[in-house]
Amino acid sequence: MKAFILGLTGAIAIAGTALGMGTTDDGCLVCHRLKGLSIVNKENKVEDCSISDALFAHSVHRNVGCTECHTDIEEYPHRPGSGKVNCATQCHVIDPSTKKPFSHKKVYETWKKSVHGKNYQKAPDIYPYCTYCHTNRLLIDVNKFEALKMSFDRCSICHQNKEWVKDRLSHVASREPIPIIKNGFTHQFIKTRRDGWEIVELCASCHEDKKKMEKALDIEGIHNKFEREHVLTAVESYKVTMHAKMLYLDRNDTRAADCLDCHTNKDGNFHDIFHKNDPRSSINPKNIELTCGRSTECHPLAPKYHMKNFATTKWVHMHPIPDSLGQKIVKIVEEFMFWLTTSTLLFAVTIVGLDLLKNLRRKH
Ligand code: HEC
Ligand code: HEC
Ligand code: HEC
Ligand code: HEC
Ligand code: HEC
Ligand code: HEC
Repeated sequence: MKAFILGLTGAIAIAGTALGMGTTDDGCLVCHRLKGLSIVNKENKVEDCSISDALFAHSVHRNVGCTECHTDIEEYPHRPGSGKVNCATQCHVIDPSTKKPFSHKKVYETWKKSVHGKNYQKAPDIYPYCTYCHTNRLLIDVNKFEALKMSFDRCSICHQNKEWVKDRLSHVASREPIPIIKNGFTHQFIKTRRDGWEIVELCASCHEDKKKMEKALDIEGIHNKFEREHVLTAVESYKVTMHAKMLYLDRNDTRAADCLDCHTNKDGNFHDIFHKNDPRSSINPKNIELTCGRSTECHPLAPKYHMKNFATTKWVHMHPIPDSLGQKIVKIVEEFMFWLTTSTLLFAVTIVGLDLLKNLRRKH
């Protein structure tokens, strides 16, 4: 009964605010802006259901109404399990380039066919859906950057509505090569919004998880021992390569290849990831020349047709193959350099320590 009364008052409040403010939140925020609004889910965990309206208003989905994504939520109390969202639905937002209602359907279809989407229904906790990789991120604030502030002032010479201009400018600027400072690093929006190392971390969050990937390999029906080994060590074997080390040292180094550079096709939409035997895969023998050919700007001395030879496992994923002489030499040199550096540092520390001791003794 209490729930009913609450629902009724809520519904009245919804109607009131929705009419009053004309916002896109469909009145949902009347309840959902309350801090600490939570549910206990099936796994007995408390899940926060409160939404910060200030943050939502500056996010990429700010112009989409709550019920356009949460299409199943029509009443309060909500029906159980109605929180799921389908990212391929069409919303009322009009794409100015086509004047048609907007939808992520094209990306959705690519994902659905890809290695990440085709078996998603079988194990939604192992395979990544859109929401695993994408959160409702915030647009960058045009007032915070000198260069953008100047553009902003210029736009308003013609466009009188400042809020509108700010909104449009930040939409474009979030995808432009404008440096921003985050955690002490300079980020550039150029190739992808995420920097190279962030992409590695995103992919590694699953691909480094042996238990998860073993389950997935069973679902995929990949039983060949070597093939399994290659998939299971994909991140580890990438991290020892030059590409990974360049990115690790400078996460903005656009010269170094991150996972997406090699695993997606050149003119694709970042979601066309397939098994290497699939002819649609960027690392399929049919396409590898084109994929690695992209890197001629980084490897200017290597002719395009030779790049194919680099694309063998041992250059782009250094798999631990015990019988390869090259791998052995690399391992030995690596070990040697480690011990050389460590012993040099230890030696230096000892000398400084002894010197300090000498000075202390002299003083007394
Ligand atoms: C009268 C208050 C109220 C209103 C209005 C309301 N909600 Fe809720 N909502 C709740 C409460 C309380 C919960 C947590 C308990 C539950 O699931 O009923 C919740 C839970 C949710 C969940 C999580 C459900 C899940 O199973 O994970 C979603 C999603 C949600 N609401 C979306 C919406 C949307 C979209 C609207 C607007 C159309 C809306 N709510 C309007 C009170 C409200
Ligand atoms: C662009 C689509 C989109 C819009 C717009 C949107 N949501 Fe959501 N919302 C989602 C997705 C996706 C999830 C995660 C669902 C899942 O995990 O299955 C979610 C989750 C939630 C949850 C569950 C708690 C949580 O954090 O997982 C609540 C509550 C909620 N949304 C309320 C709202 C309200 C209120 C609005 C309007 C202000 C809104 N949503 C607008 C897509 C959207
Ligand atoms: C495995 C992780 C992953 C999954 C799953 C995924 N994406 Fe992406 N998506 C990315 C990455 C990485 C980018 C590159 C741009 C970036 O880093 O923001 C991207 C880019 C995009 C962009 C362009 C964004 C921009 O600002 O340039 C859209 C739109 C998009 N994805 C939608 C979707 C939709 C819809 C789905 C579900 C059908 C989905 N994605 C599933 C990782 C993923
Ligand atoms: C010289 C005047 C002028 C300046 C300066 C100017 N605009 Fe415009 N803008 C226009 C006119 C006129 C149109 C509509 C006609 C057209 O598309 O050319 C327009 C159209 C647009 C549109 C497309 C709107 C739609 O829905 O189709 C966007 C977005 C936009 N401007 C953003 C900006 C931004 C951001 C800036 C600053 C970087 C800017 N404009 C600077 C005059 C200007
Ligand atoms: C939520 C977990 C998850 C995330 C995040 C994820 N993957 Fe996957 N990926 C999987 C699963 C599960 C498979 C299927 C197992 C398989 O085919 O080996 C898979 C398969 C693959 C395959 C095919 C492997 C094969 O067998 O040939 C490639 C390549 C791949 N992912 C690359 C990426 C890249 C690049 C990213 C980052 C943009 C990424 N993955 C992010 C879970 C994930
Ligand atoms: C420089 C290009 C390049 C980069 C960067 C790269 N890969 Fe690969 N990856 C390849 C190629 C080429 C293959 C196929 C190797 C072969 O033919 O044995 C492959 C194979 C794989 C496989 C399947 C194993 C197999 O042999 O079938 C997975 C999974 C994978 N990569 C994931 C990743 C992840 C995750 C990252 C980022 C941490 C990444 N890759 C970075 C080029 C790259």
